[in-house]
Amino acid sequence: MEASNKKKVYKAHILFTKDQSRFEVLENGYVAVEDGCVVGIASDLSTLIGQGSMVNGQWSNGTCCDAEVVDFGDRLLLPAMNDLHVHAPQYRNQGIAMDLELLPWLQNYTFPEESKYADTAYAERMYRRFVRDLWRFGTMRSCVFATSHTESTRLLMRLFREAGMGALVGKVAMNRNCPESLSETVEEMVQVYENLISWCSHEGNLTPHSSLLPPRVRPIITPRFIPSCTPEMLRACGRLAAKYGLPVQSHLSENRDEIALVQALEKDSTCYGDAYDRYGLFGQTPTVMAHCVWTEGEELELMKKNGVMVAHCPTSNFNVASGMAPVRRFLDEGLRVGLGSDISGGHDLSIFRMMVYAIQVSKMLYQQDHGQPFLTLSEAFWLATKSAGSFFGRVGSFEPGYEFDALVIDDSDLNHDHYSLLERLERYIYLGDDRQILHRFCRGKEITEPKY
Ligand code: GUN
Ligand code: FE
Repeated sequence: MEASNKKKVYKAHILFTKDQSRFEVLENGYVAVEDGCVVGIASDLSTLIGQGSMVNGQWSNGTCCDAEVVDFGDRLLLPAMNDLHVHAPQYRNQGIAMDLELLPWLQNYTFPEESKYADTAYAERMYRRFVRDLWRFGTMRSCVFATSHTESTRLLMRLFREAGMGALVGKVAMNRNCPESLSETVEEMVQVYENLISWCSHEGNLTPHSSLLPPRVRPIITPRFIPSCTPEMLRACGRLAAKYGLPVQSHLSENRDEIALVQALEKDSTCYGDAYDRYGLFGQTPTVMAHCVWTEGEELELMKKNGVMVAHCPTSNFNVASGMAPVRRFLDEGLRVGLGSDISGGHDLSIFRMMVYAIQVSKMLYQQDHGQPFLTLSEAFWLATKSAGSFFGRVGSFEPGYEFDALVIDDSDLNHDHYSLLERLERYIYLGDDRQILHRFCRGKEITEPKY
């Protein structure tokens, strides 16, 4: 079942961000949900009843008065988390292998681990834990790199589908500067993607649930990064994205040695982003690029012009010693930005914790150059919810028409002295963890703990 159709009204302390500059706070507020989507939100029930409803998947005026009311009492109701960049097959390496920069880190730790995913039994053991742990931390949508292996990638998509969680899953394309076990020919890559796409449409993954809702689990074209892909491979990826209208994800300007390598490999391109652009992989279809630590000038302008989104991964940038991405600058320039855990460059799967790291990175940059203010809490929250959610559809807010992806937080243990609702949220973001998450919803349906 794609969504819960029954009309429901949830009552709780509701906090979310319509825009980056401030929180919407509804103390003892109500949100009405129908057909997987928010159909009304108000501080009191009578106002809610006067609001609209979904009729045949369309927004129209109506009534919510026949809905069942579920009262969560003194709990907080927040939009669920979105992880805009994470590597499922690096799950075993989470929290280890912190002593190298990107290029040797990939060769010494990452590629050997990813090679193990030729074994679907190993993949199943790791991927089940990975999906369950995303669930634990309240991440209901993610943009995921798998490996170059077909069967284990298909398995990962099936696990997300069975769990009821949303994911864009990328079979990784790579054919140079990597071990034989992860390399494939361009023809094999195209064939595998075509098979995956046809398997997904057969499984209903590519059939829209309604005119408003895209399928929850979908493939995403995933060239690993320019050093891993020959020009022919990149060109084929761009063609596949255009042919099937599929989104694209990759890595961009993460590390200085990587950037120098790209310059040497793509001599005609004027910057790293331009190299992707030449192959139709830079906003020709919805595109998200991880890191962008060193993005500026022409590359930044091209991202703005093409609507390419940034996945900011602060813990990864620290652990792999890449640098500090200028998120404040990206926001001020009007770039679209979300947050990513980037396991296992990053060590922390919690997107709540990622908000804290993003704020801390921006404070370090502020210390270097007082020209730009650091990120505020509402900005970080908005990055993780509404801004990142926009890559998946209408996700990440409680405004009418948004998919109801939500978390119910019982912060009673942290709320020991009459904190305000905003203070309670801030303390949960800084101090809380999965133990305080009581319920998780994705597209209106409560998501129970996936088997692992
Ligand atoms: N660039 C190419 N592949 C990777 C990866 O797996 N992790 C990170 N952090 N950067 C990459
Ligand atoms: Fe990454």
